[in-house]
Amino acid sequence: MTRRTLRLHVALLAAVVSPVLHAESQEHSHTASVSEVIPVERAPGPAVLRNESRAPHTVEVTITAEPVRLSMIPGKSTVGYAYNGRVPGPLLEVYEGDKVIVHFRNRLPEASTIHWHGLHIPNAFDGSPFHPVAAGADFDYVFTLQKGSAGTYWYHPHPDHNTGSQIARGLFGSLIVRDRNDPLRGIPEKLIVLSDNRFRPDGSIDIADPESMQGGIDFENGRECSHIFVNGQIEPTITIRPGEVQRWRVINASAARVFRLAIPGQTMLHVGSDGGLFEHPVEVNDIVLANSERIELLVKGTGAPGSATVLQTLPYDRYSPQTRPQDWDKPRDLLKLRYTAWPLSRPVVIPASLRAIPAIDTSLAVRTRVFALGQGFINGKLHDMNRVDETGKLGDVEIWEIENIVGMDHPFHLHGFQFQVIDRDGKPEPFRSWKDTINVPKHSTVRIIVRLADFAGKWMYHCHILDHEDHGMMGVLEVN
Ligand code: C2O
Ligand code: CU
Repeated sequence: MTRRTLRLHVALLAAVVSPVLHAESQEHSHTASVSEVIPVERAPGPAVLRNESRAPHTVEVTITAEPVRLSMIPGKSTVGYAYNGRVPGPLLEVYEGDKVIVHFRNRLPEASTIHWHGLHIPNAFDGSPFHPVAAGADFDYVFTLQKGSAGTYWYHPHPDHNTGSQIARGLFGSLIVRDRNDPLRGIPEKLIVLSDNRFRPDGSIDIADPESMQGGIDFENGRECSHIFVNGQIEPTITIRPGEVQRWRVINASAARVFRLAIPGQTMLHVGSDGGLFEHPVEVNDIVLANSERIELLVKGTGAPGSATVLQTLPYDRYSPQTRPQDWDKPRDLLKLRYTAWPLSRPVVIPASLRAIPAIDTSLAVRTRVFALGQGFINGKLHDMNRVDETGKLGDVEIWEIENIVGMDHPFHLHGFQFQVIDRDGKPEPFRSWKDTINVPKHSTVRIIVRLADFAGKWMYHCHILDHEDHGMMGVLEVN
């Protein structure tokens, strides 16, 4: 193993295996203006946020967003934005029932927010465009994680019309909510944050001019980029012991790229999605992960000692024909999976039953809303911060029928509430799960059911292709 892969492996392990007490240094305590604040290069990769609280069931952390110079691609230095100096930002690891306090310090030259993608928390702390944090300002996000919310989430900025560029510059991080009685506890974990980016020859982040040809393609396709990153690294190595089973939590943090994950010649067990574990593991050959979705997989180390394989992304045609990239039908390697020399002697027992997910009863639904997804529009409208598009009643159960009327996929995300999928093009969903984003493939219809529980306020729903979202493919649901 080379030094580079060894270091990375240690970083991966540190990010996932160590508990919350792992140190994340906060060496910058300045409040000066951003222009003087491009700190020295620091190693990218996930770290765990340090809990500053001694109180029981309380996690208190500080997240600073600021411009940084770091090495994103080999041999080049790049000025981007980072949370606590890292791309991806550090992992926030908490337990169900924990009270979470995040001291957010915006040291960017522009307004931002932190949106806790997928969490069911009070509206004032959702970090939506309705609650911007001005350049140089601070804001405390305070929320408590409900029972049953254990799962893999992520956090990212969400300023009005400016989400895509801030995420492209490096602002995104992972969040794991744990259950003290996790049915899979004891199984080693790996966290895999997928993103992509594009660079100019001088190493700077290439965000295309909207008037340019590339800008036009990005506007249609979403900004899908040449360089794919796993935890901020290009094609890193993960090791596994022959016979071992690993739990992989995978986050798609890219602006537009949809991954179709596979390990050639081997099946995986799909055990969870956006809102945590399924009721039972499902065996799959490959799995589609649209942007902003998360999955949990059990990867079985079926290879021989000393051998190696890869995690790939297989072709997935989300595109309209005019802007489909030329190489869309070529598989790409994401990471190397290397088998150690020492097999595990004891076989790992995977529970057949993970948890109960009670169905939201469709007969309880008080209304059905219909959303038509066009190219950049929802129900023919562009987002307007001064308009409420839909109003709902707190506690109501609703069915949402989301129809994609155009020739490319749009991943639809609802803030604040996890939902269940009823059917896709009339085909009943084969098993239940909790979701906050659902990819609606071209010319198809998905029906979901949601309970507008606990939290009133104005909630966004939108396409999670960031270029579409920023363009205004978003609406507002006001719950009272
Ligand atoms: Cu992940 Cu409204 O966003
Ligand atoms: Cu879209």
